[in-house]
Amino acid sequence: MSKSGIFTSSLAKKYWMALTGLFLITFLVGHLLGNMQLITKTGEEGRRAFNEYAYFMGHNIFIKILAYVTYASILAHAIIGLYLAVQNKKARPQNYAYNKPNTNSGTASRNMAVLGTIILVFICTHMANFWYKQKVAETVALHTVERPITMPIGQDPMSGQPMMGTFDVTYYLTTNGTYEADYGYFKPEKAYVTIKNGQLTNVTKTLAEAKRFKVGEHDDLIETSTNLKAAQGYKDLHTVVMNFFGHSEQGLPTNEYALWAVIGYVISMLVLMFHLWHGFASSFQSLGLNHQKYNGVITFTGKAFAIVVPLLFAIIPVLIYLNR
Ligand code: HEM
Repeated sequence: MSKSGIFTSSLAKKYWMALTGLFLITFLVGHLLGNMQLITKTGEEGRRAFNEYAYFMGHNIFIKILAYVTYASILAHAIIGLYLAVQNKKARPQNYAYNKPNTNSGTASRNMAVLGTIILVFICTHMANFWYKQKVAETVALHTVERPITMPIGQDPMSGQPMMGTFDVTYYLTTNGTYEADYGYFKPEKAYVTIKNGQLTNVTKTLAEAKRFKVGEHDDLIETSTNLKAAQGYKDLHTVVMNFFGHSEQGLPTNEYALWAVIGYVISMLVLMFHLWHGFASSFQSLGLNHQKYNGVITFTGKAFAIVVPLLFAIIPVLIYLNR
């Protein structure tokens, strides 16, 4: 291969590194905004907002396409980056120690491949812990809430007055936007209950109405007349994340390794910080988007981004740990 060919191809690789890097930077912003809901919203409202958000991310066609571009970008960025690092190492003279690398390049820039590899390991374990549970695993519980309900359970034989009983009923949050009773606990022949915005709005006792839904194989609610999924449950990813970083719930231990998970995340975010510190501005340079007039702004934005975004990501597990 000619010298210029080698030059062109390595230039093209740097271009791809920059393009995929910038795309992943925009992914980080979106991902951070979505995850911030874990600490900015609390209670049932917060759980519902996060689970509905995670469901939307997995079901909206536009977001799905973006997700595939994200996976491809992670792979391309990692493979090309490692290839370039190996090529650089091969091209480097043996007496590297005498080159005094720290005089002409920053620590982060010389360690991009090592930092990137650590981030790749982080992403793989991270996706095994959360992405796999949301997208693949069928063992994750659906979003349910327990609410007491008082209803007539019979007639007093002496007075003839109705007798009332209070039961804890499990309701599924459904994609219809309602909480619907778990028929495992609550037979459809007896009652069909709808709770909207936390208010009990409808108690139906007619068999015809009650039989509108049955519980499907994976706890989905199936409309009996059409046999279609009329209202699907949401996976409770919020609880998965809370139990992963939270060390206790109502005094009960959840994940005994939660502290290690939090430490691992904080260290990974430090690594991400160093990677972005160099990567952000350098991607603009590789794309030829550097101009003397704007270089200062790009460098400043890059460094601010490198600090703020990983810091906010790191705060999430820390706060969950401290609050649970
Ligand atoms: C503390 C911070 C973070 C939390 C709580 C968090 C949480 C999650 C959760 C719950 C999912 C599964 C949601 C879904 O697939 O719909 C997910 C997916 C993912 N996360 Fe994170 N994440 C964090 C930080 C990061 C960071 C820093 C990166 C990258 C360096 C990252 C990369 C990814 C990727 C690539 C996916 C798959 C996205 C997709 O399928 O579209 N995450 N994360």
